[in-house]
Amino acid sequence: MLNLLHVEVCQNVGSLLTEFDIKKLVQTEFDSLEEIILNKPLLSENFSTDALKTHVQSIYCSCEQEQGIHVKLLKETIIKIYVYRLNQEDIAIETIHKDGEEISAAAHWMLPSDKFFGLWENLFYDPGVKEKLVNFVETAMVYSERQVNPHIISWNKVILLHGPPGTGKTSLCKALAQKITIRLGHKFTRGELIEINSHSLFSKWFSESGKLVMNIFNEIKILLQDPKALIFILIDEIESLAHARKACTTGSEPSDSIRVVNALLTQLDNIKQFPNVLILTTSNLTEVIDVAFVDRADIKLYISLPNEQAIYSIYSNCVEELMRTNFIRPEKIHDMEYLKRLNYEENSESKNSLTLYQLSCKSINMSGRTLKKIPFLAHALYNQARECSLHEFLMAMNFAIQWQTENSLK
Ligand SMILES: Nc1ncnc2c1ncn2[C@@H]1O[C@H](COP(=O)(O)OP(=O)(O)O)[C@@H](O)[C@H]1O
Ligand SMILES: [Mg+2]
Repeated sequence: MLNLLHVEVCQNVGSLLTEFDIKKLVQTEFDSLEEIILNKPLLSENFSTDALKTHVQSIYCSCEQEQGIHVKLLKETIIKIYVYRLNQEDIAIETIHKDGEEISAAAHWMLPSDKFFGLWENLFYDPGVKEKLVNFVETAMVYSERQVNPHIISWNKVILLHGPPGTGKTSLCKALAQKITIRLGHKFTRGELIEINSHSLFSKWFSESGKLVMNIFNEIKILLQDPKALIFILIDEIESLAHARKACTTGSEPSDSIRVVNALLTQLDNIKQFPNVLILTTSNLTEVIDVAFVDRADIKLYISLPNEQAIYSIYSNCVEELMRTNFIRPEKIHDMEYLKRLNYEENSESKNSLTLYQLSCKSINMSGRTLKKIPFLAHALYNQARECSLHEFLMAMNFAIQWQTENSLK
């Protein structure tokens, strides 16, 4: 099978070159490279020509068949280049005003947004998790375009990511919306992400909520009229819907809250029919999710706590960032493949990477959110942010992990 290499090229906002010219520049750059790095952006300062440096911010390559870090540019590789520019806008579309307080009910981003730049590549999961998600969505969009009859083949465009808190579900939804916008740039001129804040919808002001749901969806329907806009709707932490329903099952009157939940579900069913919409949902609970909601989601993906391999990637990424910012003196950190090939044996080359691996094993059961705080804790508690060697920093991280484990129990 031919390798398919996806190349996402972020063009500078000020650059006036055509897409065709940018693609030509990128092709020339690739011809000069022996091999290219996958899943890590190639940044402007590393480009070989001034023309590319002037017009392009970064190039990000990924390959479905290849899980490795490098790929040789073989003749049989099909290269697909996507050129995009980042949007710098950020607007909230709906707020609730009540008793002098202002509460945000929905946020709205134009995609690809600079706010989500780099989000995708800094989320680490088991190999294949992210790719699977992209494939799901791309397939759903193609089915939608060809109008495959959903009564014959069951498919829809509601995705549910569920799993423990802090495992990156919300981030993954946002990063996915950004990625799909980039990948489908030939079909849609832009993406828009609307995040509905279910907490504020279902917390205090149920009486206001019904109106609010209507307002939000009326605005969404206007956006959907433009077939060139790809609309993502993110409903985060949908377990708050289930709570809202449960809260009113005790009373006999259908309360405001159940009306709001039902209004929301009906509206979602309504807009699902549009070819240019995708609904992303998350839940921190794995069992007690609103049944009506689960039925509507047809891609359900469990996002687990990271295993030691994913933890190793998160930690390596953190440590490399501290090398970039001159806290740790530069030193090579090997990837897991290298350690496996060595059978985890220690030599002068592998010593520090092995220590990092041991720290990763020690950090099992921590969420991505907690893991990303460990380097900061190491600095703050044990190193006072002094410049140090990798070995010294790993010792500080060891203490920080210990500290985190003890303190999370209290
Ligand atoms: N697997 C992971 N890889 C990298 N970062 C992660 C991972 N899981 C969580 N994080 C980080 O933890 C923080 C919280 O993530 P979030 O998306 O809010 O999680 P959730 O929605 O599952 O509670 C974010 O900064 C995110 O980047
Ligand atoms: Mg979340």
